[in-house]
Amino acid sequence: MLENVKMTVSDKEQEIQKQYADKVREYVTNSGCEKTFYSLAMGCQMNAHDSEKITGMMLRMGYKETNDETKADFIIYNTCCVRENAEEKVFGKIGTLKHIKKTKPDTIIALCGCMMQEDTVIQKLKQSYRHVDIIFGTFNLHKLPQLLYTRIKTGKPVIDIWDKHGPIVEDTSYKREFKYKASVNVMYGCNNFCTYCIVPYVRGRERSREKEDILNEIRMLANDGVKEITLLGQNVNSYGKTLETPVTFAELLREVDKIDGIERIRFMTSHPKDLSDDLIYAMRDCKKVCNYLHLPFQSGSNRILEKMNRRYTKEKYLSLIYKIKKEIPDIMISTDIIVGFPQETEEDFLDTLDVVKKVGFSTAFTFIYSKRTGTPAAVMDGQIDEATAHERFNRLLEVLNKTIEKVHEAQVGKTLDVLVEKVSRQGEGIVTGRSTDNTLVHFKGNAELIGQTVPVKITENKVFYLLGERI
Ligand code: SAH
Ligand code: SF4
Ligand code: F3S
Repeated sequence: MLENVKMTVSDKEQEIQKQYADKVREYVTNSGCEKTFYSLAMGCQMNAHDSEKITGMMLRMGYKETNDETKADFIIYNTCCVRENAEEKVFGKIGTLKHIKKTKPDTIIALCGCMMQEDTVIQKLKQSYRHVDIIFGTFNLHKLPQLLYTRIKTGKPVIDIWDKHGPIVEDTSYKREFKYKASVNVMYGCNNFCTYCIVPYVRGRERSREKEDILNEIRMLANDGVKEITLLGQNVNSYGKTLETPVTFAELLREVDKIDGIERIRFMTSHPKDLSDDLIYAMRDCKKVCNYLHLPFQSGSNRILEKMNRRYTKEKYLSLIYKIKKEIPDIMISTDIIVGFPQETEEDFLDTLDVVKKVGFSTAFTFIYSKRTGTPAAVMDGQIDEATAHERFNRLLEVLNKTIEKVHEAQVGKTLDVLVEKVSRQGEGIVTGRSTDNTLVHFKGNAELIGQTVPVKITENKVFYLLGERI
């Protein structure tokens, strides 16, 4: 009996926040008019998923969502700081909010996310952006109801930044952006400390959710009509290592594969150093795991990979790719690449191009190295000048685009199962969806197809997407 009423730290925190959410809801009801919120996710998939949690909390508090920022009563930006231009964008946007605050002083402005975990950012906000009302970070997202209530009650700015994570607070009442697909966190944080990357500093140490919590969440999503699941973590391949009863990511995949109703399983991101044979076999064996893998290689030069602290070599990466392609021949592989890392020579860069040519990626996210204060690479000798970095970046794109075109050309004439996601922006009567290998496909159809998986014959290669006809 006693066991049944024992509350975890997560339960207690949830209960506290529920009480604050009720108080805010009461305030909204008593105000006698509709209150709206505008929420913007500015970062990666994890950031976007956190924003789904924010939306869930705001709806519970009685606010209605709006796309019109200028009319919203509550505005929240979930920030990213992975590269300098991401930060500049945030400051630019916060600057423009000054006008909104001038015309509508009651608007409550909140900032959260990775960038808020940087001391320099908080100092700058305190000094020059006094129109911001609520600031919190990545470790206390669940506290939004309490922070909003405090702001409403006191009318004073509320800043709450934790410098490390507490216990995981389970919250599965988020509002999904899509009806038929959903993201599920399997782990938080990162222990890898790639020398260019700020993520471990702003997201804290690696911690995994309990397997049963993840599976229960996915069962709940399946009951709610979700067909496609993306398991999220900075380094999903090391999932479960720190749990009391350790579980591997491969084991987790095998369990998720058994859940009725789920048709597709995706995951990101994988780190090449932790990608086990067991995981490759699980991908091969599990029917629902998509034949798609995002495997960032960052650089093709062993010298640079070592300076990046990536802990694999070009040869190791390529041998992994060959092993994966042998086990799952129709797999599509995408990647992340950085050019212009400190001390990168022309020869190093040619090694990067060599990997691109050898692997045949279906997509790639390409970045010019951006100096992040506080990371080891920021103080390395031999920072690359902008012109050289840009020149390499353009050459990389040229090679990549040819590769992508070739990879997609091989799909023309094939029939792919496409899960329809939305009506295309290209115009009326066109819908867009993805095949299990993650290729974007456009074809004639209407909104009724959204959420259905339909066979589509590929008729034309448009390089970054394919055109097809439903059969
Ligand atoms: N955890 C994931 C990715 C996190 S960030 C992984 O390890 O793959 C997403 C991508 O941003 C990285 O893969 C890297 O290519 C890029 N990136 C991170 N820090 C960067 C920096 N300082 N400059 C340029 N690109 C960066
Ligand atoms: Fe950053 Fe490396 Fe961690 Fe990815 S694995 S989040 S690139 S430190
Ligand atoms: Fe994602 Fe940007 Fe944070 S990439 S983890 S939102 S720094």
